[in-house]
Parts: sequence; structure tokens; C-alpha cells
Amino acid sequence: MTAEGEPTLSTDPGSGTTNGMDDATALRLLREGRLEVAGRLVEASNMTLYCTVVLGPLNAACVYKPVRGERPLWDFPDGTLAAREVAAFEVSAVTGWRIVPPTVYRDGPFGPGMCQLWIDTDDEVDLMGLIRSRHPALRRMAVYDAVVNNADRKGGHLLPLPDGHVFGVDHGVCFSAEDKLRTVLWQWRGKRLAREAVNVLARLDRELENGRLGRRLRELLTLAEVAATQTRVRRLVDSGLHPYPSEDWPAIPWPPI
Ligand SMILES: Nc1ncnc2c1ncn2[C@@H]1O[C@H](COP(=O)(O)OP(=O)(O)O)[C@@H](O)[C@H]1O
Ligand SMILES: [Mg+2]
Repeated sequence: MTAEGEPTLSTDPGSGTTNGMDDATALRLLREGRLEVAGRLVEASNMTLYCTVVLGPLNAACVYKPVRGERPLWDFPDGTLAAREVAAFEVSAVTGWRIVPPTVYRDGPFGPGMCQLWIDTDDEVDLMGLIRSRHPALRRMAVYDAVVNNADRKGGHLLPLPDGHVFGVDHGVCFSAEDKLRTVLWQWRGKRLAREAVNVLARLDRELENGRLGRRLRELLTLAEVAATQTRVRRLVDSGLHPYPSEDWPAIPWPPI
């Protein structure tokens, strides 16, 4: 921490390398590797399994959330959370901001589900301090969450790395066609979007309009949800500002950690 109480920052999202593996290799391993369940994450609200995945000489730890283990929610259709998590990764990949660890949709010991690379976090980081900080990775994440309409960005869904980067996880309740942004990251509300964010939003707009991202999201989400994603991107571009919390629904998750 610096004198101002802000964590030491990595201003660059870094290359597409996680746990020493480039993203393309990680995605292949997650997609094609042999998946074995090693344990269950007890604090998780869904059936969230800690697994190993092995493909020849490659191996990694990962999270596997089978669709069958999804807890029904009143505000999201049943059996859709895993696909939303993969859609969240696809948007993250286009931003180049490395918000979401490599994530795929695949079959597993409990049927189809999402499978995500496990991230070794820095346990020394004080989460309360982090969520109140002005860390550039969180500023990017605040824009990203407004795009994907994240309804659950709490402290426990932030994974700080020893190198200063911060990943986000648990994107099952994203992409509703109705606005539901619920997050602890409101410190930039009403602030002008950074130039890099404006550039990334322009890229997302193009990619949603007639690029691979639009095609991929239409496989994973409803057409209305994809259209609403593009509307949110354009709203951000038009306003040029980080959004304000809504008064129409609880804008902070509970509990916040
Ligand atoms: N890819 C990951 N790498 C490391 N830790 C993770 C990862 N995904 C989840 N976790 C940890 O497991 C906890 C539960 O996972 P989460 O995705 O929030 O499950 P649920 O949907 O059941 O709430 C998270 O709060 C986080 O601490
Ligand atoms: Mg969770």
C-alpha cells in the first residue's frame, strides 16, 4: 500500500498469459483436457467444483460449474448461468483487459457446464481496501460490468494476483436484457470514461454489430440479450461517463464481500 492507502498498481492488464500459460493453450487445455473433480468450493452458492484438467504434458487447476448444479434464480432463466459465464469471457477477451480468466463450455463428470482456469490469488491483499481503491484494473472492470450488466460484482468475486493484476469471477448473473448493474465498484460514477475505455467500447460495438463476438454471443444468449448488450455499449459511448447507481433496484450486492 502507498501512503494514500492505495494498493501498488499494475497499470497494464498484461499479456494473455495466466499461470505461465498463454490464453490459447489454456483454452485448449480446458476444452480438450481430462477433467477430474478434486473438491467442492464450500462457500459457493452453486455446485462449484475445484478440478484438475490434464492434456498430455499440460495440466492446470480449474473451476467446473455443471449446469445441473445451478441453483434456480427468480430473475434468470434456469440452466443458463454457465453459458453466461462463457459469454462474459468472450466479451473480456475482446476488450484485451483480461477481466475474466480463460473459460469454456464443455462436458464434464456432471454433464455440460462452464470450466474456468483456477487463479492463484495474493492472500495478503486486503479486499476492503482493494474495492475502495482506484486500481486501474478495477476501473476497467467497472466499465466491463456496465457492458455485461453484472448483477453481482462483490469483493469475493475479485481475484487479486501477486503481480498487481485483478481478475473477476462469477459472471453467471450477467447479460439480463433488463438493467441490473449491482456492484461495489462505484468510485468512478459520473466520471469521464478513460480514452482506453472509449476505444474498447468502439471495438465492442463493431464486434457486436458484425464480428465474431456478436456471432458467439448469439450462440450463448438470447437475441434480446445480445441486442441489449450493444445498447448498453452505445449508451456508455453516448454519455462518455461511468454510470451512476440506479435508484430503481439495489445497486450494491449484499453482502458486499
Ligand atoms: N477461476 C477461479 N480461480 C480462483 N478462485 C476462484 C475462481 N472461481 C471462483 N473462485 C473462488 O471460489 C468462490 C466461489 O466461486 P463463484 O464463482 O463465486 O461460485 P458461485 O457461483 O457458486 O457463487 C469465489 O468467490 C472465489 O473465491
Ligand atoms: Mg459467487
